[in-house]
Amino acid sequence: MEPSSEKKVTLPKLVSLSKRRGFVFPASEIYGGIGSTWDYGPLGVELKRNIKDAWWRSVVTQRDDVVGLDSAIIQSPRVWEASGHAEVFTDPLVECPECRKRFRADHLEDQLRCPDDGSTLGDPRQFNLMFKTFSGPVEDSANQVWLRPETAQGIFINFENVLNSTRMKLPFGIAQIGKSFRNEITTGNFIFRTREFEQAEMEFFVKPGQDEEWFNYWINQRMDWFIKLGIDSSHLRIRKHEDAELSHYSRGTSDIEFDFPWGVGELEGIARRSDFDLASHSQSSGTKLEYFDQDTGTSYYPWVIEPALGVDRAALAFMSDAYTEENTEKDQRVLFKFHPDIAPVQIAVLPLSRNEKLVPTARGVFNEIRSVFPAQYDDAQSIGRRYRRQDEIGTPLCITIDFETVESDKAVTIRNRDTMQQSRTLIKDLIPEIKDHLSSMGSTRC
Ligand code: GAP
Repeated sequence: MEPSSEKKVTLPKLVSLSKRRGFVFPASEIYGGIGSTWDYGPLGVELKRNIKDAWWRSVVTQRDDVVGLDSAIIQSPRVWEASGHAEVFTDPLVECPECRKRFRADHLEDQLRCPDDGSTLGDPRQFNLMFKTFSGPVEDSANQVWLRPETAQGIFINFENVLNSTRMKLPFGIAQIGKSFRNEITTGNFIFRTREFEQAEMEFFVKPGQDEEWFNYWINQRMDWFIKLGIDSSHLRIRKHEDAELSHYSRGTSDIEFDFPWGVGELEGIARRSDFDLASHSQSSGTKLEYFDQDTGTSYYPWVIEPALGVDRAALAFMSDAYTEENTEKDQRVLFKFHPDIAPVQIAVLPLSRNEKLVPTARGVFNEIRSVFPAQYDDAQSIGRRYRRQDEIGTPLCITIDFETVESDKAVTIRNRDTMQQSRTLIKDLIPEIKDHLSSMGSTRC
């Protein structure tokens, strides 16, 4: 992996571009912010949606052996007792007696001293990361519930429902994408570690004993997914967890790590959860979440492999890898070299000017394009500035309508973001031509 210092991208550059162009805004900004909480703007929401769609296509719709689910965020508190989260989903919290700041002990180099003022820290205590709230108007312990800290449990508790309604046969998976909440002791690095975030998780159920081969299979699948969507493979690595850092449910976890602007960090975790969750929920609920194997005539708890992606971290990784500063003959340009399948805008339609001769044709071309591709119509400022703006938001292709288009050749110019090369195409051939261009840039959706 290359040292991150050699990269041009820095976190301040990403944060500033994100705000300026409408990818990510600080949350509650007009009230002074709420600290490490972020809102996705018009382009950020498209980027995140494209990432989730690409994940869903790869993990669910393009496979025969995985189905989807969308379970509730607030479940019975008994779910979190059975899953072990109520008792052991904790991080070690230490407090400085002088400055009163709180830290996660396992994130400190010197766990005895305050990193800010050097005072001796208090003893660590285990702090539960689940957010508590109340269901209904009465705030007593009988009505206390938790916001889910992972989407996975919604899948385990619906195992029987999915099995009965779909007749899936082992090995098979259940996937879901949704918000999760953790009252993290320390947050930071932009959208990397926040208290509210989105996960894309899949529980893949296999015959007991077959988990190792499927574990390796899913690590490879997930690595390929990032690489196919344009992440430089030299910025990814797989790290096996030490026994001491394994989650309470895991009998083996490997993280896919990415070289973020500040250094290497976890992007996705792939865990071997064995039958821990299905067996615990069976015991707690009295509903046996077993699989009846018609081949052997026996019932058993399947074992589970779980690839668990943080969608916000994926967005940060894609932005960070795509960020490019390039010196051209005239100036420097900044661009997001997004893979076309995740770019928030795939095609920009740019009339040379707002001249009324150009507008009807430009609007007609735009309407045709937007029915097929995510597109934007942009007629403000000079064409050069508009190209730069589209480069900066990562639009793979710009289509320019000029006077020749309307007066003579009924053709438009297609400009490629990465090479800046331009070619002329007849309007009647435009849609297949755009598909060819996007395919040559890596799109698998055309
Ligand atoms: N169900 C397993 C599970 O939740 P995890 O490793 O705790 O495993 C999976 O979380 C992924 O969720 C992580 O790899 C990370 O990408 C993302 N994630 C976890 N905590 C996060 C946080 N506080 N902020 C943003 N993303 C987070």
